[in-house]
Amino acid sequence: MASKLLSPFSLHKLELANRIAMAPLTRGRSGADRVPNDLMATYYCQRASAGLIISEATTISAQANGWVDSPGIYTQEMIAGWKKVVDAVHEAGGKIFVQLWHTGRASHSDFHNGDLPVAPSAVALQGDGIHTPLGKKKHQTPRALKTSELSAIVADYVTAATNAQSAGFDGVEIHSANGYLLDSFLQSKTNLRQDQYGGDVANRYRLLNEVVSAVTKVFPADCVAVRLSPNGAFNDMGSPDYRAQFTHVMTELNKFGLAYLHVMDGLAFGFHDLGAPLTLADVKQVYHGPVMGNCGYTLASATAAVESGAAEMISFGRPFISNPDLVHRFETDAQLAPEAPMEDWYTPQGARGYTDFTALNSPD
Ligand SMILES: Cc1cc2nc3c(=O)[nH]c(=O)nc-3n(C[C@H](O)[C@H](O)[C@H](O)COP(=O)(O)O)c2cc1C
Repeated sequence: MASKLLSPFSLHKLELANRIAMAPLTRGRSGADRVPNDLMATYYCQRASAGLIISEATTISAQANGWVDSPGIYTQEMIAGWKKVVDAVHEAGGKIFVQLWHTGRASHSDFHNGDLPVAPSAVALQGDGIHTPLGKKKHQTPRALKTSELSAIVADYVTAATNAQSAGFDGVEIHSANGYLLDSFLQSKTNLRQDQYGGDVANRYRLLNEVVSAVTKVFPADCVAVRLSPNGAFNDMGSPDYRAQFTHVMTELNKFGLAYLHVMDGLAFGFHDLGAPLTLADVKQVYHGPVMGNCGYTLASATAAVESGAAEMISFGRPFISNPDLVHRFETDAQLAPEAPMEDWYTPQGARGYTDFTALNSPD
């Protein structure tokens, strides 16, 4: 008998083939116009046996951009490009959410005709630099957003969600992880604001709350998800009060009845090491809806997490890059292909390191 992980699962009204999700993976194949293309449709279609695909992070506006050749969802061309991707996944029997993204301080003025990236506060990301369309640059001190500017950003999320509906996506995942705009509002390390969007855990949660409230008026709440990285160090994150902050956020998110809460509970993508990691058991103490775990999971640890009820679903990132048929390999206990080298993760080099990983049962 197939394990719970590999058996069909009803995620609210969505009938999923299994409890495995493909984690959002930025791959930088959209070109400078940020329009999804046929190669991307092939890539996602190859991975459609995942119970749910979460698309690569996709920007909600021009202001949200901060990664070379990543896709957007704020023009008619982008909607049409995504529609081809979504149709291909649906034809292959899969389901797909789009991950909605604003890069915030992890951007650079090269993406914005010289204007500084925006953030809750003027706190620069300490890191080894950022790839911009004009080459590798040092991170800059971002411009703190005015209170009066925040409603326009919420409106951009609404437009992006409306566009996602036009493209046929099954739902949206709001990216509030990894140090991008929404995460940087949540965290005391990057949010030093004096207005109602800063100061205590409730105020720092205010922007995410407004975004989720607004997006759940476009899609039904059970088609809207949120991603959090309470333990993450990526993009120079990690705040001393992470437990209090994320416990508050998860408690508050209960009120929406979301599709799922995507929590990067594992430490395989960088741990801030400021105390004990927030585990799925911690999450389950406060959050009552479906939980998707992520980071460094294997077939064994994912099976155990789902069997024990620690999570309803598990997402896999890196394993899906080199194993388009990850689900089939799990089902047959087959060996996984070696991890793709990092230089192939994002580089805009077309099919190489992207769609050229073969499935075990493929005639190629
Ligand atoms: C190439 C690459 C691109 C990524 N892009 C995104 C992204 O667009 N959005 C996001 O939330 N996380 C992103 N992540 C993080 C993954 O979703 C995932 O959390 C991470 O790879 C850990 O899971 P894994 O151990 O199964 O790979 C990315 C990771 C990698 C390796």
